[in-house]
Amino acid sequence: MTTSLDANQYAPREIRKYEAIYGRHFVSPGGEACARDCVARLALGKGDSVLDVGSGLGGSAFLMAREYGARVHGIDLSANMVALAVAKCREEKLEDLVRFTCGDCLDLAASQIYQAIYSRDVILHIEDKLRLFETLRQALVPGGRLLFTDYCRGEGSASEEFESYVAERGYHLYSLAGYHKCLRKAGFVDIVSEDWTAQFITIHRQELDQLPAAGLSADDEAELRQGWQKKIARAERGEQRWGCFTARRDQLAT
Ligand SMILES: C[S@@+](CC[C@H](N)C(=O)[O-])C[C@H]1O[C@@H](n2cnc3c(N)ncnc32)[C@H](O)[C@@H]1O
Repeated sequence: MTTSLDANQYAPREIRKYEAIYGRHFVSPGGEACARDCVARLALGKGDSVLDVGSGLGGSAFLMAREYGARVHGIDLSANMVALAVAKCREEKLEDLVRFTCGDCLDLAASQIYQAIYSRDVILHIEDKLRLFETLRQALVPGGRLLFTDYCRGEGSASEEFESYVAERGYHLYSLAGYHKCLRKAGFVDIVSEDWTAQFITIHRQELDQLPAAGLSADDEAELRQGWQKKIARAERGEQRWGCFTARRDQLAT
């Protein structure tokens, strides 16, 4: 299955650029260090089953398996990402604990149940977020944990530059409060929304500083530099935000 993501934002060359700036096996802000902080919040135990929604190149899945002994199912819509993740999993010798499937997280099989669901900067791609959260809630055991980070929009009106960036990418961004409301509507409990915009700015500045050492061509480096500078400026203006969300399926879930 080839999607428009495979032909555009996640074409092989684009994935290579993202991995060069985010770090080995990652396609999201802060790479491994940030993934480690996020995963720690799930308090995983050995053998816990975890769904990684939009698993990308598999960096977080490998970390959960290697450091916590979790059994991880990564699902991703991009065939390019899944092919690379499968090869990396073999290299990391984690095939006993980690598996990847190519598919849309909105179409999760009803029979698949997990103790935790994790997702990093994926939900910005999904328009019907209520349907997604209802699907994810059903895929959790009673009391099961959800953690995700995502690009968000500020509460006020945004500049034309911001709106054209969002439209060009095909993103669907909620405010932090919008996410909170949607999670509640989907039946999640113990919802905590944290504004991580300050970390987003710090991380993107660090990634910019490290860019010259990434070994990219001059054109690729210049393109990433410009994109990162724009992201930082949008975040500094408060139009673009970054949220970390945790929630649970209620214990007496029906
Ligand atoms: C920014 S990347 C993040 C990848 C990974 N979570 C990480 O932290 O490195 C977003 C990922 O979401 C995937 N994605 C987008 N829409 C999806 C969908 N409907 N179902 C599953 N994955 C999706 C993309 O293919 C891409 O791999």
